[in-house]
Amino acid sequence: MNPSRQFPSNPYLLLANIGQLLTLRGDSSPRRGAALKEIGLIEDAAVLCGGGRIIAAGPQRAILRGPWLRKNRRKLREVDCGGRVILPGLIDSHTHPVFYEPRLLDFEKRIAGASYQEIAAAGGGIRSSVAAVRKATRKQLGQQVLGALKAMLEQGTTTVEAKSGYGLTAEAEIKSLQAIRDAARLWPGAVVSTLLAAHVVPPEFAGKEDQYVDVVCREIIPLAAKKKLAEFVDVFCEHGAFTLGQSERIFASARAAGLGTRAHVCQFTASKLHTLLSYQPASFDHMDCVAQEDIGLLAREQTVATLLPAANYFLGHSEFPDARRLIDSGVAVALATDYNPGTSPTPSMAFVISLACTHMKMSPAEAIAASTMNAACALRLQERKGSIEPGKDADLALFDVKDYREIGYWFAWNRCRQVIMSGQLGLNEKS
Ligand code: NIG
Ligand code: FE
Repeated sequence: MNPSRQFPSNPYLLLANIGQLLTLRGDSSPRRGAALKEIGLIEDAAVLCGGGRIIAAGPQRAILRGPWLRKNRRKLREVDCGGRVILPGLIDSHTHPVFYEPRLLDFEKRIAGASYQEIAAAGGGIRSSVAAVRKATRKQLGQQVLGALKAMLEQGTTTVEAKSGYGLTAEAEIKSLQAIRDAARLWPGAVVSTLLAAHVVPPEFAGKEDQYVDVVCREIIPLAAKKKLAEFVDVFCEHGAFTLGQSERIFASARAAGLGTRAHVCQFTASKLHTLLSYQPASFDHMDCVAQEDIGLLAREQTVATLLPAANYFLGHSEFPDARRLIDSGVAVALATDYNPGTSPTPSMAFVISLACTHMKMSPAEAIAASTMNAACALRLQERKGSIEPGKDADLALFDVKDYREIGYWFAWNRCRQVIMSGQLGLNEKS
């Protein structure tokens, strides 16, 4: 969103006449099991924001009677929400926005019957996005990232995790992280950066995979940390990408550099998770084929399982992550888009919510909690984001629906009307 399209800043904002307010109130730990569907619904509600934070949220009658509001009502900017739905700004905790071109050849090959892994083994896939990213300037990449962030904001997403991962040299990975930072500075939402130099082994290291892991561990991770360009390090732990042993080395290097960890695991083949779990990663992502014993382990950990059903959809898979088994076993589950050129070119969390409901049998309430509070936990931002409670950042989304269940119902239809970032009202360019 272009900042010039925002209303002039006003220190206090009252959102009144909210038909359904989803507060997601509760403690700041990931929601598990039956608690995942507790979304803290309040009807006929209001929210008061000031200084970028939530001051009060609750039944409108109670909010309007509050002594501060009675005294200061004239200082407020007031918005009539028309009986619509307000929820915490959606949190997309897994995206790969630093790419330069769509992958249309892969798209057509898959339609003709080739699998993602076959295309990758034949030189397509992630490796085919690398040359264009290496060639692009930081400015060009920053514009690509900003375009994606704007599209996300239009659909109600106010916090995004953004990974590098198509540069695969120290220079191109640093350039990718700088592009994320440049775009983040021009965007009103919050961006969390992740170094994914271990996305795949680049062609020049074919047959010398461990040497590339050495470069990632000894050069790229320390450099990204020194330049303060990344908060997390990610690795694609999968056949054809990095082994479990190599992934552990990458986690160890991240820990030594003071960075958090997260991993793409169990997307196509199962991996044993306990060694990686000892690094207390913030999140394990994909988790399509996780073993039952690892589900038991995860249920006792703070690590969130981030499910990415838009990738299954776009790859044309009939199988989706087994969300029910994970949730019912007590694993903390989040949802994200996985926005990337190969497996998920969508910026829409609402579409992901819809897929979670229709293909993973998550209830609309569970899917929303997984896209707000649990997604905040997956980014270790739960003290500031993910719910509408006094003291938290005033990042909210107003959807043009009367019932929150409509968010996943009107699929492939952007019903987000407005976002509020740090208590400032922004216009949704599409509304
Ligand atoms: O999360 N699995 C690894 N990475 C991405 C795909 C990236 C690509 O194909 O460009 C994913 O699906
Ligand atoms: Fe991904």
